[in-house]
Amino acid sequence: MPGPTEMLEAEHRIIALIVGAAPVLASRLEEGAPADNALMTGIVEFMRVYADQCHHGKEEELLFPVLGEKGVPMHGCPIGGLISEHIRGRALVKGLEEAAAAMQKNEADTAARKQLVANLRGIAELYPGHIWREDYMLFPMTDKILSEEEQVSLYEAFQQVDKRIGHQVIDRLVAFAKSI
Ligand SMILES: [Fe+2]
Ligand SMILES: [Fe+2]
Repeated sequence: MPGPTEMLEAEHRIIALIVGAAPVLASRLEEGAPADNALMTGIVEFMRVYADQCHHGKEEELLFPVLGEKGVPMHGCPIGGLISEHIRGRALVKGLEEAAAAMQKNEADTAARKQLVANLRGIAELYPGHIWREDYMLFPMTDKILSEEEQVSLYEAFQQVDKRIGHQVIDRLVAFAKSI
């Protein structure tokens, strides 16, 4: 059975597909390409539901508190920094949503286009480092700190998060990320 950190790593690979597409979309918009409303709405939904509720949800509601119980400080490095990055990510997605809505109303809105580009670039800059810090620092530390039984119960709790969001929803968002 895979461990809880392997589940989070697998989710990182899916999130990285959208993060990798973000600067490409930003460049196209800078060159004057029309904003693809359906695509932007899809990215916002993916980042909200898959990256935030499903993935950050597992980290913030389950993993970080379990590590806290084991004596890992909840402020500062590494957990405090990772939480700040989640907050920054949410702000970027909100900015993306607002800019996309403004562009949808008026394709010629240059301020909205700039905001869309800035938020896409912000996402592209934030996540690779965040994912790296978790994959190479937080998760190896987690595997070392948690016993076998604790890892099993964390994995089961992660499965409950997926169940709560719905497997169909998750599968649809994964397929969306793979289609980009
Ligand atoms: Fe995270
Ligand atoms: Fe993560």
